[in-house]
Amino acid sequence: MLSVLDLKHMKANKEKISMVTAYDYPSAKQAEQAGMDMILVGDSLGMVVLGYESTVEVQLEDMIHHAKAVKRGAPNTFTAVDMPFMSYHISLEDSLRNAKKLFQETNAQSLKVEGASDDILILIRRLTEAGIPVIAHIGLTPQSVNVLGGFKVQGKDKDAGQKLLDDAKKVAEHGAAALVLECVPKQLATMVSQSISIPTIGIGAGVDCDGQVLVYHDILKYGVDRLPKFVKSYADFNDHGTEALKAYMSDVKQEKFPTDAHSFLNKSQDSLPDTE
Ligand code: KIV
Ligand code: NA
Repeated sequence: MLSVLDLKHMKANKEKISMVTAYDYPSAKQAEQAGMDMILVGDSLGMVVLGYESTVEVQLEDMIHHAKAVKRGAPNTFTAVDMPFMSYHISLEDSLRNAKKLFQETNAQSLKVEGASDDILILIRRLTEAGIPVIAHIGLTPQSVNVLGGFKVQGKDKDAGQKLLDDAKKVAEHGAAALVLECVPKQLATMVSQSISIPTIGIGAGVDCDGQVLVYHDILKYGVDRLPKFVKSYADFNDHGTEALKAYMSDVKQEKFPTDAHSFLNKSQDSLPDTE
């Protein structure tokens, strides 16, 4: 399993970091078998596998339940877990208590928090000091979608770009182990990546980030309808899955399934009970 130090070395050696989300045992197992560098149990699980409208509905218990399954499927892969909406905003004490629970109960290697406000910076420092590696996340931060006014590219003008660059430096100074950059112009992400020593993990942030992350279900086109511009799908499980289910259904209706090959057969008629 990689450590946070390995991730820093990968950045220094210009070796790209691959990260994918996973939310359950089979997806995590696949990610580990594929040799993925890192897994993120993202709170995107709310939309992707639980069918919520946004990540705002996700509870701490949801994250714990799914992250435990992920760690059972990928015991040897560095795994980060998102702290969900409002689980780290009420007070520092409440945030630390929630982080302790999430980290201890899931056997994860890291927690991820969105934003770079003074309170978040203090939290990053406190968690890191306590021995919990933190991945920061700036740019488009979906838990704040209602404040941002939609899923939009962030840091587009000079001032917003400067703020994003400053925020990146601040989270790094406060001990963050890595930084997710979501939906920021490529050139800005390049600048950020060159300005800090911790790895940047991009999603919709161009090729110059130190690593990339995508949502498992987006990569496989599995249960998702509209895909954002920054997604590349490598399979179409919507089609394959539905086709497979249709074929099964049709076989059932036409008595083509099960065949004897899928059935348990008595060796002789004698081994059956007598009929009346
Ligand atoms: O929840 C998530 O999937 C994420 C990634 C998109 C970075 O936070
Ligand atoms: Na997330």
